[in-house]
Amino acid sequence: MILALETSCDDTCAAVLERDATLRSNVISSQGVHDRYGGVVPEVASRHHLELVNRVVADALARAQAGLDDVSLVAVTAGPGLVGALLVGLQTAKALAAARRLPLAAVDHLHGHVASTFLAPHALEPPFLCLIASGGHTLLADVRSHSGFEPIGQTLDDAAGEAFDKGARMLGLGYPGGPALERLAREGDRSAFVFPTASAVGGLDFSFAGIKTALLYRLRDLGEPESERRRADLAASYQHAIVEALAIRVERGLRATRHSCLALAGGVAANGVLRERVAGLAETVVVPEPALCTDNAAMIASAARHVDALPYPDYLGLDVYATGERGL
Ligand code: KG4
Ligand code: ZN
Repeated sequence: MILALETSCDDTCAAVLERDATLRSNVISSQGVHDRYGGVVPEVASRHHLELVNRVVADALARAQAGLDDVSLVAVTAGPGLVGALLVGLQTAKALAAARRLPLAAVDHLHGHVASTFLAPHALEPPFLCLIASGGHTLLADVRSHSGFEPIGQTLDDAAGEAFDKGARMLGLGYPGGPALERLAREGDRSAFVFPTASAVGGLDFSFAGIKTALLYRLRDLGEPESERRRADLAASYQHAIVEALAIRVERGLRATRHSCLALAGGVAANGVLRERVAGLAETVVVPEPALCTDNAAMIASAARHVDALPYPDYLGLDVYATGERGL
């Protein structure tokens, strides 16, 4: 079995996966302490990972009805992400692997999101186009093998999840804003306001800085009582524009790559309106269940099946990385 850890942001995650991609356990401990700051505080996240990681690993093994004796490979996210947060996962993984002289697979977080679609029983086979949309990333991935992908479009500024989070904050909702904004939007009219979809950005790149500013100005123009009264309409219209901006690039990406299969990954893929909007865009559209869209260690274990693991002790000197891709 593969034991995987993921600590790149504010979720402390561990999972146990069988070698044939059958998931045995997937434990996610959301820290829930960042709400009061309106976003993730890196130092707070690192400290919480430290407090939680051993318990989360023990829980993942217990739920899989497995012990360390059953583990033949340890996998861990090496980047991109918050350096302090990543280090907690990497050091824990190194210690667990070294104690048993096990090999260790260092996994790229974005490769992990793509690999969330490789899990049994509905494992997707490349080639396909994958939209990865999360709080830290928004990109289109041309996936032609299990072991990596080619980024063919990405955001020039904010990530889609960031646009959800910042919009939600302006509307007085808590963090993470995506799910809260989606709930509020259900009671609103999506055509009440028009927000930009970054139509000036051609090709396959995304931009979400403009929409955020547009909401800020709209709230200012409406004034407080009217903004308050029309909160649901504002949320629905704002969400509609983000979803359209994503869908337009997905359509272009499908045309450019000629793939007949589309997958969604990353936290924003949990959004019901986005899932509905892209459902008819390709012959096959695959969206993992919400718990596999947001950050989790099952996807890291899944990617590890297609990564060259390092034997003991070669991984002891491994380091984390904050940005960019490695080994793809
Ligand atoms: O993949 P993820 O868990 O972490 C990162 O790697 O960033 O994504 C978290 C992001 C947050 O910005 C959150 O607001 C967004 O995903 N998100 C959603 C929904 N659920 C999570 N955005 C829109 N609608 C949702 N239902
Ligand atoms: Zn992520």
